[in-house]
Parts: sequence; structure tokens; C-alpha cells
Amino acid sequence: MPDDLYRLVYYSRNTITGDATALAAAITSILAKSQVNNQRVGVTGALMFNSGCFAQVLEGSRSAVEDVFERIQQDDRHGDVSLLAFDPAPARAFENWSMGFVGASIDDAARYGALVQDSGFDPARMTGESLFETLRKLAIEEEYAAA
Ligand SMILES: Cc1cc2nc3c(=O)[nH]c(=O)nc-3n(C[C@H](O)[C@H](O)[C@H](O)COP(=O)(O)O)c2cc1C
Repeated sequence: MPDDLYRLVYYSRNTITGDATALAAAITSILAKSQVNNQRVGVTGALMFNSGCFAQVLEGSRSAVEDVFERIQQDDRHGDVSLLAFDPAPARAFENWSMGFVGASIDDAARYGALVQDSGFDPARMTGESLFETLRKLAIEEEYAAA
């Protein structure tokens, strides 16, 4: 196990208001900023938006992940931030992504993922491990589709 590799999993409730276009723009901007910041500190991971919820995995050194998560928790574009897991990890699962967006495209996620009743996706009922596995599988599908 590499020294000091940690993985954090959380979910939160979207508080961004406005129509699907505004929501898509906000998510695009969060992602762009995340990619720049995370690359600088060696953090990788994936973000998903569905049923009015964000779910995110962050991996990197313990201190880098803690710093990023500290900022994320203070962000008023979401609320009810719930930490599901923060544990040593054997290897990175999102090696190639400073922050990837998984699941539906940002536009479709903004259009349909805002509907809470839409999909039955409820991260509040998932464990850190099952949420991590969900994002990991979606990331593999995405990399396969892009290849
Ligand atoms: C759902 C969500 C996920 C985010 N993920 C990240 C992230 O992975 N890395 C990051 O640096 N900021 C992330 N942010 C943005 C931070 O909350 C914060 O706005 C940003 O880090 C500030 O960066 P700056 O100090 O360089 O302006 C996220 C915000 C939200 C709402």
C-alpha cells in the first residue's frame, strides 16, 4: 500500500437555484476549478450529480484531501455535506482524472438529475464503499466509451 494514500467519499444536497442551464454552468465551473486545484496538490477523483445530490470521491495524500474537503464543506453551492468514508487506500481508482464527471453528461445531469423522484438514486442510503464502487464503475464505463 503506498504511503499516505487516502480516499474520501461524501455526498451533499445541491443548493444551486435556477434552471437547468444555470445548474449546468455552475457544475461546469466547479469542475474546471477542481481540475486546476486538484492537479496542483495531487488529488484525483470523480464527481456525480443525480437526484439533487452531489456524490464525490477524493483521493490523494491525507493532508491534501483534508485541505480540499475543508474548502468543499464551506461551499454554499451545496449543503448537508455528509462524510461517508475517509480511509487509507491501496491504490488510486481515478488515476487519470484530477476530477472527472461521471454518470449522465453535465447537461443531462442538470436537466434530469435535479429531479429527486427521477431515478431512485439516494446516496443517503448508501455506504461509502457502495458509493465509491458506483462512481468507479461509471468511470470505467466512461473511459471505455472514450477509448
Ligand atoms: C460539489 C462540489 C465539489 C467540489 N469539488 C472540488 C474539488 O474537487 N476541488 C476543489 O479544489 N474545489 C472543489 N469545489 C469547489 C470548492 O468548494 C471551492 O469553491 C474551490 O476549491 C475554491 O478554490 P479557490 O480557492 O482556488 O478559488 C467543489 C465544490 C462543490 C460544490
